[in-house]
Amino acid sequence: MQSPDGAIVLDMGLDEGRLFYTLKKDKKDILNKSYLGFDLKDSSLKDNFRITGTETRSFSEKWDQPWGEEVTVDNTYNELKVNVEETEGLKRKFSVVFRVFNDGFGFRYEFPEQANLKDFVIMDELTEFALAGNHKTWSIPYDTEFYEGLYTPSVVNKLDTVCTPLTMETEDGMFLAIHEANLTDYAALNLYPDSNSTVLHTYLTPWSTGEKVFMSAPHVTPWRTMIIAGNAGDLMLSRLMLNLNEPSKIADTSWIQPGRYIGIWWGMHMKKYTWDQGPKHGATTENTLKYIDFAAKHNFQGVLVEGWNKGWEDWRSFEFTVAYPDFDIAKITDYAAAKHVKLIGHHETGGNTQNYEKQMEDGFAYYQKHGVNAVKTGYVGGKLDGKEMHSSQYGVRHYRKVIETAAKYQIMIDNHEPVMPTGLQRTYPNLMTQEGVRGQEWNAWSVDGGNPPEHTTIIPFTRGLAGPMDFTPVIFNFDNPVISQTRVRTTLAKQLALFVVLYSPLQMAADMIENYENNPAPFEFITQCPTNWAKTVIPHAKIGEYITIARKDRNSDNWFIGSITNADSRELSLKLDFLDKNTTYKMKIFKDGKDADWKTNPYPVDIEEIEVTSDSVIQLNLAKGGGMAVMISKM
Ligand code: NOJ
Repeated sequence: MQSPDGAIVLDMGLDEGRLFYTLKKDKKDILNKSYLGFDLKDSSLKDNFRITGTETRSFSEKWDQPWGEEVTVDNTYNELKVNVEETEGLKRKFSVVFRVFNDGFGFRYEFPEQANLKDFVIMDELTEFALAGNHKTWSIPYDTEFYEGLYTPSVVNKLDTVCTPLTMETEDGMFLAIHEANLTDYAALNLYPDSNSTVLHTYLTPWSTGEKVFMSAPHVTPWRTMIIAGNAGDLMLSRLMLNLNEPSKIADTSWIQPGRYIGIWWGMHMKKYTWDQGPKHGATTENTLKYIDFAAKHNFQGVLVEGWNKGWEDWRSFEFTVAYPDFDIAKITDYAAAKHVKLIGHHETGGNTQNYEKQMEDGFAYYQKHGVNAVKTGYVGGKLDGKEMHSSQYGVRHYRKVIETAAKYQIMIDNHEPVMPTGLQRTYPNLMTQEGVRGQEWNAWSVDGGNPPEHTTIIPFTRGLAGPMDFTPVIFNFDNPVISQTRVRTTLAKQLALFVVLYSPLQMAADMIENYENNPAPFEFITQCPTNWAKTVIPHAKIGEYITIARKDRNSDNWFIGSITNADSRELSLKLDFLDKNTTYKMKIFKDGKDADWKTNPYPVDIEEIEVTSDSVIQLNLAKGGGMAVMISKM
């Protein structure tokens, strides 16, 4: 089977009854013989196969995203379905379905209904990726709590067991990323190498009792995916994962609205406020009305309020329909509605999913009654219910229930401490954004100094490939009264640029409003920057060093650019050839000021306005740990 452009060639075959595949791109080996199969609870399903038939088809469509980094997605692939059956014994059967796109491939196992394979237990999925080289990698370990780790460079054969997306750079300059799509009623994919080889094996996150997946045929596995790109930026522009998810199950998506939000949030992380009640309680009616006023004045659509409900005393037995007495939700939401602002709800569960599932319907109904149409959910707690991993089949089932229930009440979800995203927002466009990343909050309370300057030049190419990230950028005051050695390790201009670089359809300006009030000139950028895009281009991309992203607004002809660097200062030249021809634009630049440096002098931002056309080339001078944010509008 070939990709539509013929560059990728997939072969499948049987090797003494074992099923394998190989893959080449431009005649170069990408994957050597990679075996497929399963270990089940009381038998194995990995050899003695015969191929009973193959089917091929070609498919091409274009579909529109209700929100995203561009409007229209091209979904063009060639498909190969190989049906296999055991040659003796129970004669159990399944199919492997490959879809080969121009920018990579995906495959999954499909188990049809059959007499000898009804309910079964997967102890191990034996899928391999036998990489043809010992590529450079960026990854986090499989057991990184909530995926909130620093992605570190290594090479394939030195990897521990790691989460996907696993991002790789080959010696001849190709970029590969292995992940999965449409994780439904299954366990999350992790990978580990053979001792000292470049064959990666699958490790599915187990249940506490050791099983990986409880299956009932007919059932399919998630897609195992690989993006194959000629440069790092193209990894980010691949929509293969979305294409391998089902079309939207939500017919009317008019209530699903991307937007900017602020919140009573950083104040808790900075210990100015508390989540629970007391003299420093943050979520008071008075404080919330102040935030709503600020949101209305500065063109934000939402105000997140954490610590509004009972349960913060022990983080275990949260109540989702009982507000603290100093939080008058009716008064707040009426006031917000009059100002065209929405309260964003918060369901911290403490990882206690059973307590949450009992109250979930009531919790969403309560918010819906008060006009709240977005809820941030949270699962702080080492294990769900003290037992199951967030990325286990148990966790996957729970998170799905939340998304589906929220959709019933027309509520958008921002899921913190999630299972790694796999593109489900195509099917459930109310799944807006997720954490599962070491975000801004680590600059508040992590004892290791905070996120190092290179962190945000790595995550777009790693975790970012799994979908929108609720990183919560735009801190303006880097003083940290909580942990003296820790702080935001960027310049202020870089905080602005992150609003464009780190894609999230619900995008937070995370700081306390007083810090924005004290610095209105750079803040203007955030009040103008959209969170929903018609088009995205990536002129510069080097993993761990720098990235520049330009995005065109969905609702106007305006463009916004964010460019960031690691701890090194950098000069980049940027061609504006993505702008319309024969048109003069006004460009407003927010850049690192004189002698700016994330460590010694992070605050200076110079703002200037120039005229540009599609023939212009502009110089970007990024300070150490710095960045630049740009807005462009037609004259
Ligand atoms: C961790 C979340 O990431 C953070 O955003 C939130 O404030 C706390 N949990 C409390 O829910």
